[in-house]
Amino acid sequence: MRLQHFSSLLAGAALLSACGQSQPAPQNTANAEAAAAPAANVAASNATAPAVSETATPAANATAASATPAPAGDDVTQKLLASLPAPYNTGDVAEGKVQFNKCLSCHTVVKDGPVMTGPNLYGIFGEKAGVRPGFAFSPQMKASAFTWDAAKMDTWITKPDAMIPGTKMTFVGLKDPKQRIDLIAYVKVASSGGPP
Ligand code: HEC
Repeated sequence: MRLQHFSSLLAGAALLSACGQSQPAPQNTANAEAAAAPAANVAASNATAPAVSETATPAANATAASATPAPAGDDVTQKLLASLPAPYNTGDVAEGKVQFNKCLSCHTVVKDGPVMTGPNLYGIFGEKAGVRPGFAFSPQMKASAFTWDAAKMDTWITKPDAMIPGTKMTFVGLKDPKQRIDLIAYVKVASSGGPP
């Protein structure tokens, strides 16, 4: 009798602690939903890809165009990288592309890439925040009135809702400064018509 009572107490405790462990679940669910939404658009993204690669060298880089097409991509990458202020000009573009996988569920970066959960980011550097056509920005983002540069991008991806409270961008943030430098280097290159 006593023993039975004790074991039902134990069962109760186990239930309680199971509840405690499941606390973070709602957050995960929210992320999963956010990540799942753009999946339907992946096909569309692929469909537009060939057109984009043909226009990979934008007018701004016309002076950098070299006679041999193969190293041209590297050339463009180097020029675009060098146009960033330190320390972003030291970023590892290849590593940044890997980091951009964290953004890919919501953003495309190439010219005419589809709008997904987040806006297309082509040409974002030097542009005003929250004004891209074809995307319903939050009122907070629309009212932010600043121009995107590497430093702003750094603050943004460190913790979006600390920079713009109430933003629709539900991204936890990249805590590692090196990863942010690499990511910004990649976004600069890919969003400026460099190799995607
Ligand atoms: C879960 C989806 C999601 C993820 C992941 C995400 N974003 Fe966003 N992003 C958004 C949304 C939604 C907005 C619009 C925010 C608003 O209107 O408040 C946005 C806005 C932006 C903007 C501002 C665009 C403009 O025109 O002003 C930039 C820049 C940006 N994101 C970069 C990134 C980068 C870089 C990453 C990866 C580190 C990333 N985002 C990850 C959804 C996402």
